[in-house]
This record gives sequence, C-alpha cells and structure tokens, in this order.
Amino acid sequence: MELLRKMTLEEKVSLCSGYGPGSTKGVERLGIPRVNMSDGPAGPRWMNTSTYDPNTGWDMSSLASFNTSSGYTDKLVPVTNFPSLTTLGSSWDRQLLHEVGRAIGEECRHIGIGILLAPGVNIIRHPLCGRTYEYISEDPFIAGELGASYIKGVQDTGVGATVKHFVCNNAEFERLSMDSVVDERTLREIYLAVFERIVAKADPALVMESYNKVNGAPVAENHRLLTEILRDEWGYPGAVISDWWAINDRVKSFNAGLDLEMPQNTENEKALLEAVRTGKISMERLDKAVSRILNLALNHGGLEIQEAGFNEHHRLARRAAAESAVLLKNEGDILPLDPDVPGVIAVIGTFAKIPRYQGWGCSIVNPRRLLIPLDEIKAVAGEVHYSDGYVDGDRTDRGLLLEACETAGRAETVLLFVGLPEDYETETHDRADFNMPEAHLRLIEAVSRIHDRVIVILQNGSAVAVEPWIDSVEAVLEVWLGGEAGAGAVADILFGREIPSGKLASTIPRRIEDAPASLGFPGENGRHIYGEGIYVGYRYYEKRKVEPSFPFGFGLSYTRFTYSDLILGSETMTDIETMTVSFNVTNVGEKPGKEVAQVYVVPPDSRLRRPLKELKGFTKVTLEPGERKKVRIELDWRDFAYYDDFFGKWVVESGVYGISVGSSSTDIRLEASVEMDSHQVNYTPLTGESYCYNLFANPLQLEAFKEVMVEKGVWPVDIDEDFLDAIKHNFIPLYKSISRQTKGKVTREVFDGWLAAVNRRVLEAMKEG
Ligand code: BGC
Repeated sequence: MELLRKMTLEEKVSLCSGYGPGSTKGVERLGIPRVNMSDGPAGPRWMNTSTYDPNTGWDMSSLASFNTSSGYTDKLVPVTNFPSLTTLGSSWDRQLLHEVGRAIGEECRHIGIGILLAPGVNIIRHPLCGRTYEYISEDPFIAGELGASYIKGVQDTGVGATVKHFVCNNAEFERLSMDSVVDERTLREIYLAVFERIVAKADPALVMESYNKVNGAPVAENHRLLTEILRDEWGYPGAVISDWWAINDRVKSFNAGLDLEMPQNTENEKALLEAVRTGKISMERLDKAVSRILNLALNHGGLEIQEAGFNEHHRLARRAAAESAVLLKNEGDILPLDPDVPGVIAVIGTFAKIPRYQGWGCSIVNPRRLLIPLDEIKAVAGEVHYSDGYVDGDRTDRGLLLEACETAGRAETVLLFVGLPEDYETETHDRADFNMPEAHLRLIEAVSRIHDRVIVILQNGSAVAVEPWIDSVEAVLEVWLGGEAGAGAVADILFGREIPSGKLASTIPRRIEDAPASLGFPGENGRHIYGEGIYVGYRYYEKRKVEPSFPFGFGLSYTRFTYSDLILGSETMTDIETMTVSFNVTNVGEKPGKEVAQVYVVPPDSRLRRPLKELKGFTKVTLEPGERKKVRIELDWRDFAYYDDFFGKWVVESGVYGISVGSSSTDIRLEASVEMDSHQVNYTPLTGESYCYNLFANPLQLEAFKEVMVEKGVWPVDIDEDFLDAIKHNFIPLYKSISRQTKGKVTREVFDGWLAAVNRRVLEAMKEG
C-alpha cells in the first residue's frame, strides 16, 4: 500500500490507538482522515457537542454512569430510535434487519459517523444478563443470520459496522475481569459460531473483542482467538478493535492480534513505539495492523454528509416494532379489538404514559419522535379511562391499586401496561430478579381479579416470569423495547392494523431456576463456569425435558397456517453435497399474516452427545387468506456437523438425520429423514488408556488389534468369540491388561509402538473405504 510506505514509524504507531473517546486518528500530512465512531444498535448515540480537546482530555459524561436515561438523552443528537436488538430478534426477518441496518447507516451518514459500534451478537445464555436487550438470541444460527443482515444493511451505506463483543461476554457482573470458562466444543458450537457465520456472510469492517477472559487469558491478549481462529481459520480481513479500556498490556494485545486500541491511551502509544523499536513487535505485524486501520480511514472516513429520510425511518421503526412483538396468549381471540366498535377501554399502568422503549448504557439514543402508547390508543379508540396503577416499581401503592380497579370496573376491556423499569436491567449490572417489580405484579393481580377482559402489554428488554399471573389474564402481548415508534406498533396490533408475527428468539422459562446456566450465574471468584456446555436455551430445555412457559420459536398470530408437502432434494446425501428442503405454508385463516417457518436438524446417535435438534433454517412468509407459498431452504454439511474437540474439527457422522419443519421448536408440523453418507475419515486412535470395550467401537480396529497381538505372540492365533466376549467387560485399560498378561514383559514404550501400528492399519483401511 502506497500510503503505508510514506508513513513514519511514529505515524504508524499513533494510528493504532484512537483519537479521544470516539474516533480513529488521522494523519494530516498524508490526507488520512479521522473516522468518527458511535454506538449503537438502535440508532447512533452521538453527543450534541464534540467536546474533545487533546490538551484537556475529553468530556466523559457520555460514558459516565447514569441509572436512568432522563436528563441524559438531551445531550445526544436526535435520531430515529429503532427497536432494541432483542426486539428485532423476535422478527425472524432478515430483510427487516437489513432495512433497519441500512437506515441506521444513513443516519450515521447524516451526522458524520463512519463506523457504527454495533451490533452486539453475544448469545443470550441467561435471561438475567443485564445487557440482554443488546443481543439477539440464545441460538447462534438465528443470531448469526440476523446479525449478518443488519451489518450488510449498515455497510450498504458506506458506514463500517462492528460486530461485538468477541467472545463469551454473556454477563455483566465484573465484566472487565471475569474469566469465562468454556469447553472447546461449546465455544465452537455456540459462542464462536455466531461470529463465524457473521464473518463469513457479512464481512464486518471491525470485530470488537470483549472485556472478559476466556479460559484464563484476556480476550484482548488471546492470540488463539484473535489470530489463529478469527484470521487464520476464518480468514477475517478487517480490523480488531478493543472494547473501551479493555487492554491491560498493549504489547501483548498487539502481538495477539488486537489492531486498534480504544479509547486513546497515550501511555500505551509510548509502550507500543518502544516495543517496535526494541523488536518486541515486528514491523510486519505493525504494518498489518496499520494497513487494516488505513482501510477503515479510506473506506469509512470523510464520507460525504447525506440527508437521512427521518420520516421514512420513523415508519420503518414502527413496522419493525410491529413485526417483532410476540403475541404470547390470546384466549377466546380477544384480540384484535375492533377499531370501529372499540367499546369502553381502560388503559392502566404508568408505562402507557411514560413508556419503556429503549435500553440504557451504550445503546441509548435521543429519539426524534417518541410515541406514547396512551396517545396512540386514543387516536384509534377515542377517549379512554386511564389510571397510573403504580409509580415506583418496588412500592405497591394501595391508593393507586384501588383507583386502577375502579377504572377497570368502568371499562369493557382493560389494557394493562407493565414490564421492567429501566434501572432493573442495565448494562454493567446483571438483573437481580426474573420477576417484574412487585407493584406491577400486584396490579395485574388486583385488576384481573375483578375483570375478565384483561390484555397485558409487556415492555421489557429481556424475558420476565409470566407465571403464575398469566393464567389470570386473557391476552399477553410482549413488545420488548420497541423504540420511538413502538407505541404506534402496539396500537396497530391491538386494533388489528398489523397482524402479530413475532416469535421468541429465546425461551421463556417457567422459573429462573429452570434456566440452563442458573446454578452458576453470574459466576463467582472471578470465573463464569459455562457448566451447561452446548445445552444453551432450547437445546437444554428439550434435552432435560424441562417445560418452559414459552418455547423457542413460539408466537401467535390472528390467522392460522398449515404446513404440507415436505420434500427433501434427495433421500441420501454426502458431506460435500447440499440438500434442499421444500414445503408449502398455507394461510387457512381469514386475515393476511406472516408465518416464521423453522427447519430443525435432528441428529442420530453420535460419538458425542448432541442436542435433540438444532435450528438450521428459517424464513418469514407473507400470506393472504387462502394463499399458499412454497418455501425452499438449503442445508449443507455444517448443518449436520458437531465440533469434535478430540479431532479439533467439525465432524459429520454417517447416519439417518431427521428434518423437522415447524411453527415453533415444539410445534413440529412435518418430518422427513435423510441418510448421510459422510466421506470424512475420523478415527479415535487407541492409547494405552483405552479400554477393551473401545476395541469393539470399530470392527477394523478390533481386527487390527487382534492381528498385532497375534503377531507379537501375546494372543494365540485361534482366539475365539468367547475370549472376545470375556474381555469386553474388562475394566482394566489396555496397557495394564497386556502388561499383566505378559507378566510385565511388555514395556509401555513397546506397547505404544504396537498401538501406533494398529492405528496406522485402521486409518489406511478406513481410507480405502
Ligand atoms: C461497551 C461497548 C461500546 C463501548 C463504546 C463499552 O463499554 O461495552 O459495547 O461500544 O463502550 O461506547
């Protein structure tokens, strides 16, 4: 690169750390521009005034600790506030995520931001992670697919996107120092898989490493994660950026593969320069990092300011919120309400007047046009009765409860707004309780006792306990954090202008104790032990037969869909072929609607334990009443594979795999199977510690072992079935057995040589097929 050659050593090193709190450095002499960076997932979070002065430090108020957003959002530039990522995750709609990403990119262009520090795609390992609202799903496939669509949308506008936080930052508790202790298979199949998919599909401009350690090593200094896996295995060409203040040892982190330090750290800049001068960092490594950062400047710096279409974005935000709301219960089809004859409506709950619509922390923005649920409902239904019901979540106010009941008593239908107050779920802290606040629960209890048409509207960033109160109300609409137009979407759904089509991208457990990671969440003594392994989310509930309140993939509609005509592209396949799954979805109800059709792969018994099934395909289909559409989903070898840490690779085993197509993970409508004929040769070599029964795992292995034992004179030539049967249950490992049999004559070294011959023969025979 021409530019790189013209740069002095000092200029190169200076580029590897930011300029102040939120941009890269430029080099004026060479016309290299600075690039502004901004959070976040729901719209750009950008301060009204740029207060950075290199001589006096910078205004930290945008990053300081606020426990509510009030008074803070005014410091930010007004932008369109889109629904949170958890909300959008429930849309299961790639196209929608692409549109939202694109709109956010356009708003970045409007303000002069070249790099967006989003999306966060960490797996939702436990519902009480305080930052759940910034993440998409408990499942790496959907999180990867939707994350990739969002990034492609952002990057279509010329703005660079940052996928974060790489990796295993699944709780907020002591997030800057905690060690996530995760076995290799789990790391690959769950936590890395989402990033792997995104790197392959969306080529994000940046990967932001996370604060935590993984298996003892800070991610910031983890050469294996940042270089061997991310770059060498996955071929990631972009830059790796630190999470803010994540770096402890700049030289170590640089050599591990961390290119750009944020925010600016002049001490570390000096340390880096010194390390290059003294050869602790090679010029080759420095040039690599600098060329990646130069690419950021060339591709995303100095972008021409472009007007954003805010009205259009507001409409998109409303549609996105509507597509993402999940109808959990609708007894007797109480919803939708008739907009022409709404009857007398009571709206109860402060959240109807002061909605909960966005997450706190890095994802906070200043919404341009915040809609209020009460106003949106009035706009359709005319005058309604209103009561606060609660003010402070923790304190039940008897007066307000009585007033709420009285208001409810005067109405035919009650719309009850409850959820999680802002300070219940925040970045930097994990949630303390799975329940909604006491005052919200008491309100539901009091109103549902005296009324039999109660519709609960939930506003919360991540799942809340719905039991036992759900049995006492008629309908529940989970609208998550719907962004500035979420209130409009609520009215659209309640009055049937939009048909609900969101589905849960994370399971809602009955009790928090049922959650897979509950015994060790959020970790202690500096370590999060990921003891549940690969059994995260539905993988766990299904395997343990623990019934949740609502399963993964669940969501009701105002219409009904049937599934038919499942056809697999072939009855057999090999691990180098792809296979098409096709089926029809028909809208057999009376209203137009959208259905999220889900495809799961059901593995056969394998060498390693596996989940009962895993999501490997989905699509959202729009259907008029009576309309039928054909859905086609392509599966390839990775959809059948698991990561075998013994071989250090993805393994496809031969066998019969089920293909389940359904409307949720528990509502499977169609089933078929395909026979996989894997060409992979994976052999678990015998060692002195193998057991006799291991010999029987593979007939070729038993044959080769027998041959060598006979050749060495340990076993007689005429060894028979009875003998083999007898040793099958021998509990003494191979070397100890043979050593006893030969009265110690065979040393371990000699025996290892024999086994090497056995293993060679087996592998050759397997390759020959
Ligand atoms: C967060 C990141 C964010 C950064 C810059 C950090 O504390 O973890 O997600 O992008 O701050 O605001």
